[in-house]
Amino acid sequence: MHNLRHQLEESIAAIRTRSAHAPSVGIVLGTGLDRLAQRCSVETSIPYADIPHMPRSTAPSHRGHLLLGSWSGVPVAIMQGRVHYYEGYTMQEVTYGVRLLKALGVRVLVLTNAAGALNPLFRRGDIMLIADHINLMGTSPLIGPNDDLLGERFPDMSDPYSAELRDRARQVALEQRIPLREGVLVAVHGPNLETRAEYRFLRTIGADAVGMSTVPEVIAAVHAKLPVVAFSMLTDECFPDALHPVSAAEIIAAAEEASPKLEQLISALLPVL
Ligand code: HPA
Repeated sequence: MHNLRHQLEESIAAIRTRSAHAPSVGIVLGTGLDRLAQRCSVETSIPYADIPHMPRSTAPSHRGHLLLGSWSGVPVAIMQGRVHYYEGYTMQEVTYGVRLLKALGVRVLVLTNAAGALNPLFRRGDIMLIADHINLMGTSPLIGPNDDLLGERFPDMSDPYSAELRDRARQVALEQRIPLREGVLVAVHGPNLETRAEYRFLRTIGADAVGMSTVPEVIAAVHAKLPVVAFSMLTDECFPDALHPVSAAEIIAAAEEASPKLEQLISALLPVL
């Protein structure tokens, strides 16, 4: 058996000693967004360290727990904290959590992250529904031998952020009166933020926001035929001609500040996913 599938079986076996929970939606909480989980009535919380093969998150504000429970009446599995490529993990490790959520039986994936705004009409504190992406990380989680039982060799990327789920997200945002931007996320490897010249370049090639995560997870989800809906919390403004220095603490604070809006949006969206 392929190694990855074998590892997933060991992870699932460890989780199953603690819970028989059958989640239908998987959720990944990004930087500064771990408090979204307070809306979830948690049945079981498992530290990543207790799940064989699950990489531990070292990034600030990423707690590293798998939460099993119910949110808005929907059975969910929440990754409270993710691992990033810049932490030194391989792309396979970065996407292990998504593979695990799929193996746990989720049918839909909700991804969140903190990202910098490149579109000059967007502002710090805005929520952006991700419509498409540009992968500038220089690699892909699918490089290497392909396990045909997990997904096909050349997955199609014409609709990675399900148009149908985006329609629902927009509808729910309207009903909840939550302003929602929509745009293209470009992923870079980081961990440094970008120069003015790089922000100008990223805007020129068609991106509305820039971040250091999510895109590898989406590629793995598409490979696994798992529909995705994803949101970026815009935590800083990356406008090359009006750039201010920004610290990780400010990025986390901005995400935390705006997180109640995203919490409300996801709470209303979950029952219709
Ligand atoms: N670049 C710039 N600003 C950001 C990023 C990024 O990758 N993530 C959050 N804010």
